[in-house]
Amino acid sequence: MSQRHRLPMGFGPLLDRRAVLAGGGGLALLGAAGPANASIVVPELDRSDRIIPAEARYGMVTSREATATRVGVDVLAAGGNAIDAAIATCFALAVTLPQAGNLGGGGFMLVRPADGSAPVALDFRETAPGRAGRELFLGPDGEVDNRLARYSHRSVGVPGSVAGYADALARWGTWPLDRIIEPAIALARDGFPMSRALARDIARSQKRLNQWPQSKVVVARPDGGAYLAGETFRQPDLANTLALIARDGPDGFYRGPIAVAIADEMRRHDGLIDERDLAEYKTVVREPVRGTYRGVEIVSMPPPSSGGALLIQMLNVLEGWPIAELGFGSAATLHRMAETMRRAYADRYKHIADPAFYDVPLTGLISKEYAEALRAGIDLQRATESKTLSPGEPKAYESNNTTHLSVMDRDGMAVALTTTLNFAFGTGIVAEGTGIFLNNEMDDFAARPGAANAFGLVQGEGNAIEAGKRPLSSMSPTLVLDGTETAIATGGQGGSRIITSVLQYLVNTLDHGMNLAEATLAPRIHHQWLPDELRLEQGFSPDTVALLEAMGHRVAVRRSGATVQNVRRVPEGYRGFADPRRPGGLAAGPD
Ligand code: GLY
Repeated sequence: MSQRHRLPMGFGPLLDRRAVLAGGGGLALLGAAGPANASIVVPELDRSDRIIPAEARYGMVTSREATATRVGVDVLAAGGNAIDAAIATCFALAVTLPQAGNLGGGGFMLVRPADGSAPVALDFRETAPGRAGRELFLGPDGEVDNRLARYSHRSVGVPGSVAGYADALARWGTWPLDRIIEPAIALARDGFPMSRALARDIARSQKRLNQWPQSKVVVARPDGGAYLAGETFRQPDLANTLALIARDGPDGFYRGPIAVAIADEMRRHDGLIDERDLAEYKTVVREPVRGTYRGVEIVSMPPPSSGGALLIQMLNVLEGWPIAELGFGSAATLHRMAETMRRAYADRYKHIADPAFYDVPLTGLISKEYAEALRAGIDLQRATESKTLSPGEPKAYESNNTTHLSVMDRDGMAVALTTTLNFAFGTGIVAEGTGIFLNNEMDDFAARPGAANAFGLVQGEGNAIEAGKRPLSSMSPTLVLDGTETAIATGGQGGSRIITSVLQYLVNTLDHGMNLAEATLAPRIHHQWLPDELRLEQGFSPDTVALLEAMGHRVAVRRSGATVQNVRRVPEGYRGFADPRRPGGLAAGPD
């Protein structure tokens, strides 16, 4: 590992100015006067170190659940690479964080191989079953039936997680699948102490889970009572399912008894997924979206996620303003951010959907020229009313219980992986006898173009339901590149707030010089065009809130609950920080 951190040339002026502002202490700029393609070498990105994150020498795993993080750390310590650790963590999360970790959901990951070659995106998002169509969630009156869209067997998309985990392992891993799954099998079979957080989430979802006897039996004690924190939580059906996958690979899920159990579950309750849907599920390798922010290269998830496109679009707009000088948390900064978010989410409505079904003007959306045009339309003194704002016209060049993990290994391989069931426990439906919670990702489609989904996201025609299509997502696994090394792996959970959370993490890091703990903890804002509301977490000053209101923002101060899970490469090794907005996360690595 290099002793110093390299950043591209374009980061120079910002760092230079910071060095002066900070009195120059601790910041060495070397090579700034070199040839145009030379790198600037800085000791580290974290220019403020008020709160100390986890540190380790030989790699780092950050996830939302501590036992699963430890599984990943053990893999790194035993010589596995970042993918081995990430996938072992995912299987463990399916057991220890059944609200979000999963076999019955889907997700996205970005992987950067240790040789510093280009990052690759792997899409293992759910697909609409072959018999799904645009009327699926409309009642006889033409209105959207939200129960059907969110809590029924029809809400379930064809799961992609097992295919994604196995595919990633085959492409980039070094350990066999059965060894990777072993710890998850043991956790499901032998049990683990029920955490306070899981007990609480089960209690909160009780109504939904109790509707289905096969689900109730998974989350209740053998005597039918609710688990108390500290009691041993065992999932024997899930242990058997995991053992089948360990033995047969993805076929253990997509063909054979598990596939039949899922299809039977559907047949019994008017669901749509059949054996053929499962057997035909495929992951997709995609070219990530790439952009730059103040000269630093950002790589993120392309459609069918809106995450990467919006993230880069918003960074492009913000780049035109001196955000560092305007200051963290100032009304001037927050207003610019809110107006940028408002416009990006309006574009999400019209322009982003599954690219296999819809012509996404991606190059236009993430171009600096388009960002300039958006910026020029922003009144720096006044909030725009969302209802007066239509999606823009980029050039046509061509729930909330998701979970994210970031991993880096000692050789520099980096993984940012987000996976979800959509809501906590997805539909709340377990395919009988399998222990697998089934997602409700079909609600991420536009049940009727123009109608809002559970995140209040109004979605357009391109995201209407079609057989085999992947629903539009906000998941934003993201890497920040540093030449041939990867400086940051990040991503988050929190439905529509994922993208704005990752955005603010990056701005806090790259503009405000916060270290990864501070950048994670700093209060955040969120605007998603519709509803026309600027959400602020607690922690901003009342003066700032008053200024924003005076500019015309409809401010709502509320808890966010969206989290980001981060790993940073630093000269001494790695730093990690698990966002404490949700309890139970852990960043750790082998030393
Ligand atoms: N289910 C949330 C998302 O994919 O954005």
